Amino acid sequence: MLLAISVVASVVGIIFMLALDWFPEQGSSIAAPIDTFWDVLVVVSVPIFVAVTAMMLFSIWRWRQRPGEEDLDGPPIHGSTKLEVIWTIVPTVIIAALTTYAAILLVDIQSAPAKGTRVVNVNGVQFAWDFETKTAAGPVKSAKLYLPINEPVKFNVRSADVIHDFWVPAFRLKVDAVPGITTTYNLTPTKLGTFEVVCAELCGLGHAYMRQTVTVLTAERYATVMAGLAKQAGAPAPAAGASTDAVGKQMFVAGNPATGATACGACHTMKAAGTTATTGPNLDEILQADDAAGIMEMIVNPNKEIVAGYSKGIMPANYATTMTKPQLDALVKYIDQSVHGEG
Ligand code: CUA
Repeated sequence: MLLAISVVASVVGIIFMLALDWFPEQGSSIAAPIDTFWDVLVVVSVPIFVAVTAMMLFSIWRWRQRPGEEDLDGPPIHGSTKLEVIWTIVPTVIIAALTTYAAILLVDIQSAPAKGTRVVNVNGVQFAWDFETKTAAGPVKSAKLYLPINEPVKFNVRSADVIHDFWVPAFRLKVDAVPGITTTYNLTPTKLGTFEVVCAELCGLGHAYMRQTVTVLTAERYATVMAGLAKQAGAPAPAAGASTDAVGKQMFVAGNPATGATACGACHTMKAAGTTATTGPNLDEILQADDAAGIMEMIVNPNKEIVAGYSKGIMPANYATTMTKPQLDALVKYIDQSVHGEG
């Protein structure tokens, strides 16, 4: 009877699990084989779960304590070598088989990229991604990822501060962004559209906000969009007071990785800097009425006043220590000039 219950429950469980729509749409070349692997895991593991649960519930019911048995000991059992050998060998074979399948699958879908494959540098920083790639129109760095459809791409993933994890659920694979090393993976986007880019490693207070998008475009549209972005990046910076401006802009777009000062542009949109992130408020909009002193106060004391719709504790409150006074002054001057359209 136990066997019959297990078989029926397994069949029902497998049908139920396979019928559920677990994953987002398949957006890359590696999505289908990974989803198939999941199906195999379901077919193998559901019967084990069902059989163990059925055996446990049956035993609880069958050998429960009855009235008058309170002081009785169970029968003296000293183990069964035969049983132990079986329950060691069977799981070992199952795990070894699934591990081999997974390893072969991973090698298969991650075979070395062909020469000339597009490389995208993915940089994680608390709490945003930026994406860099070479295009026909020049290098492009953007807060939004663009990819041409049906063209293989290799991601070089890095972190400027703590461990993040680069994940596009529609593409399936994910990889940690680890400070000091470069991790990689390869795939080919196979579906037009915009998909979520998510950080899948708890990386601090703003972890939940570390979400951006990837847009997969036709080759022609991709060329047009990248040419536009490359032109933006090449636009001349505000001229006056060149050296201070250079430092200010550098602090804004790159921060100070040596001290852990996060780039403002990683979270804020500011037209003059060409940044488009939306984790924090748009600086062109919120700083219109602020002077240099006000901007400085907001940088070193970010939790004092919060723009409606945003939360406390997201913006790092350590700029007074992670940037030198001259760096902060240059940064404030740069932001002040940028949002008020001077220089
Ligand atoms: Cu970066 Cu979570």
